[in-house]
This record gives sequence, C-alpha cells and structure tokens, in this order.
Amino acid sequence: MTMMLTDLPMAIQRSDFAGDFVWGVSTSSYQIEGAAAVDGRVPSIWDTFAATPGKVRDGSTGAVACDHYHRWEEDLDLAQSMGLNAYRFSIAWPRIFNGVDAEPNAKGLAFYSRLVDGMLARGLQPWCTLYHWDLPQYIQDQGGWNNRATVDLYLRYADVMTRHLGDRVKHWITHNEPWCTAMHGNWDGMHAPGNKSLPLALQVCHNVLLSHGRAVPLIRANVPDAKVGIALSLHPVMPASDSATDRAAVSRHDALRNRWFLDVLYGRGYPAEALALVGADAPVVEPGDLEAIAVPCDFLGVNYYFPEVVRDAPDEYPLRAQIVFPPDRQRTDFGWEVAPDGMVTLLERVARDYPTGDLYVTENGSSYDDHLEDGLVRDTARRDYLIRHLAAVRDAIAGGGGIKGYFAWSLLDNFEWAEGYLRRFGLTYIDYETQRRIVKQSGEWYSAFLRGA
Ligand code: FCB
Repeated sequence: MTMMLTDLPMAIQRSDFAGDFVWGVSTSSYQIEGAAAVDGRVPSIWDTFAATPGKVRDGSTGAVACDHYHRWEEDLDLAQSMGLNAYRFSIAWPRIFNGVDAEPNAKGLAFYSRLVDGMLARGLQPWCTLYHWDLPQYIQDQGGWNNRATVDLYLRYADVMTRHLGDRVKHWITHNEPWCTAMHGNWDGMHAPGNKSLPLALQVCHNVLLSHGRAVPLIRANVPDAKVGIALSLHPVMPASDSATDRAAVSRHDALRNRWFLDVLYGRGYPAEALALVGADAPVVEPGDLEAIAVPCDFLGVNYYFPEVVRDAPDEYPLRAQIVFPPDRQRTDFGWEVAPDGMVTLLERVARDYPTGDLYVTENGSSYDDHLEDGLVRDTARRDYLIRHLAAVRDAIAGGGGIKGYFAWSLLDNFEWAEGYLRRFGLTYIDYETQRRIVKQSGEWYSAFLRGA
C-alpha cells in the first residue's frame, strides 16, 4: 500500500504544539560512539555478543559505529542546525567503571562532561539515559541483571553520574526499554547476553525495575531540580480477528507486554493475569521491592514503533497468544507496521489508565533501505512517517494525552543491534566508508518544520 502525498496531514506545523514543547532526537552510546577500547573503556555485553558468530546479521559490531566519540561536535552541530531544542543520549557504563571495585574513570567522565557542555552551548537540553543496554561484561560475568548485587552496582554508577553531570543535566531516564533488556536479552536471546530462559528474563526484568525504583530517590538527592523517568517500549495490542478467543489473547499478551511494566511502576504490582500465566516462572520479589519500584516519577517516556497484532494460540507458552503479521498493512523496510493511529490509541490509553505525570515520546522512527544518490538521500517514506506520527502526537494531545515532547529515533544511522548496519533509522545518512554525514530529506523536513517554514 503506498501512501499518497495528498493523504498526508501536510498542514501540520510547529505552532500546533505548545511553545515549550520539547523537540529532540534520541541516540544511544553503543549504537553510535565506537571507540570501543579508547580512554579506558572496557567491553560491554554487546561487544561480546556482537563478536560471537551468528548473533548480528551482518557480522558487525559497534567497535567503530559512527565514531561519535571522536565526531561528537559535528553531530551536535547537526542537531543544532536542525533547530532541535533537546538531545537524548545514553552513557556507556563501561567507560565509567572498569571493574566492580574500581574508581570512576576520569577520561570517561570527561567525555560526557564535554558532550553535555557541547549540548548546552548549542541550545540543546540534555536528556540522559543511564542504561541503554551496554552492561559492562565483567558484571555479566557475575550474573548480570540476574544477580541482585547488580542493582547496587547500578546505584553506585547512577550516583557518580548524577553527581558529575547533575549541575547541567536536569532530565534523567533510568532505563531504556526494560522489556528489551530482559526479554530480548534473556528470553528470545536476540540481544546480549543472549540467554533463552523465561524465568531468568523475568528475574532480570524485576531487578532492572528495582534498580530504577531505587535510583529515583538517589537521583533526586543529588539533583534536587531533576526530572526523572523511565522509557518503556509499549505497543498497542490488536486482535487478529473479532473472535472472542483472539480478543482474550490480546488481554494476555498485553498483560506481559505492557501492564507487566505499567502496573508495577504505578503501584498495582504485577498483573494477576500475567502472574497466573507464568506460574512458577515468576520472579522472586523481596519485601519492599514493589513499593520501591512504584516510586513516583516526573514523567514517563514512551518509545512507540508499531502495534502488535495477536491471535489465540493455545500451544504457545506462557501467553497462549501469537504475534501475526497481516499482509494488508503498510510496513517499513524492516517489516514494522506503519500505524500512527496506534500511537494515538497508546498514548491516550497510558494517560487515561496511569498517573504518569508528563508523557514524552522518547523514541519513534522508521527504517528504510536508503541510498545516497547524487549526494542526496530522498527518503520520502521516512519523511511521511515522521509527518504522520507528529500529527498523531498532536491528535493524542487533543485527546487529553498530556504529551510534552517528541524525540525522533534517530539523529544518525547507527548500529541497529542484532541487525547490525543493515537497518538505517537516521534523519542523517552515514557513509560508513568515510564517516561522512549527509542530512536526509526527512532531516531537512524536520528542520524546516522546526523553523516554522
Ligand atoms: C528501540 C531501541 C533503540 C533502537 C530502536 C530502533 O527499541 O531503544 O536503541 O534500536 O528501537
């Protein structure tokens, strides 16, 4: 199905949004930085995983990536030239601590200090994610997030970072997408560290959420004027058909996919429906954990990419539900459904059902098979995706969604995890041979939109 230009809400303009709306892009350390062995950085679980044959589709690693560690000034210049007012980045924990009992690495700290100063000098509000999946390998060697002791290591890391940057960074995201950390990392094994065990994944998930809950008061103590939140990957869940069985499958899928996170973060504990399904695979929860996880936050970050369509599947453990891919949907080249309406449904639901405080879209974007031709990347499909999703944010705000900002994923093409460099999500094209950055048509559009042109 091709979208015609005439179907696009071309009338969308920046002035449709509040004057203090946050306009950003999102990035993450392992996906862009490269410089894997520079200035005292030690290996992360992603270095190990990517170096294992068969784990990353093109056999690549993030060892060089976009070389952002050395080219960050040029990258921040790009963000500034697009007219953005915010920039979301993550810190590579392996640059900060090179061992369990180590002192913080001054060179790692200095890099992020320079980066933050660079943002402020360019009028970009820094939004810092503490954990975007690059756990130090030495921590994984002691059980990683499955080991409760990792929560304490995370708190020490969060303490050091917030003390170091808290005078300048006021927006803190404890974790990016705990679903992926836990489930892709430990259930389906698609991500580092590549385990395949549901009970392990659920315990990891619990410990990650606990580390979030315990970090929030610590961040507030170090940065009294901080705004603190977490970024979740959420999906509206739709039935494959109107049958009662498919609709029941939606509820089961939603219980683990969305409510497992939202319910526990907002004080309702893990959903009974999901607990009944996972049975003895449920995590060990110690007294006080649920109260700690339910600590009030200032905002919720929603990473939205696509809806999930599910059908009843009695043989699938534990949810008795299966994701299906209806053929009649518009999709990106990655196969992800393009459904801006799903974003409206999702944001309105979250705002209605949970006391989230401010909502931010902390990631949203599309992957297409871009080509550099005559010095240009004509990524019309990505531009259209962006336009339609910004219109969806506008509609969700009109529907009572309280959304205060939007971060496009991503500033640059980058290392897309298990897909390596095969998937391009950037508003800027990276020529990996030369590390040249070329703003795509979508980036030009975002820029014109932000400038009110
Ligand atoms: C999200 C991740 C981000 C990026 C996008 C495409 O799940 O948070 O790092 O890979 O997907």
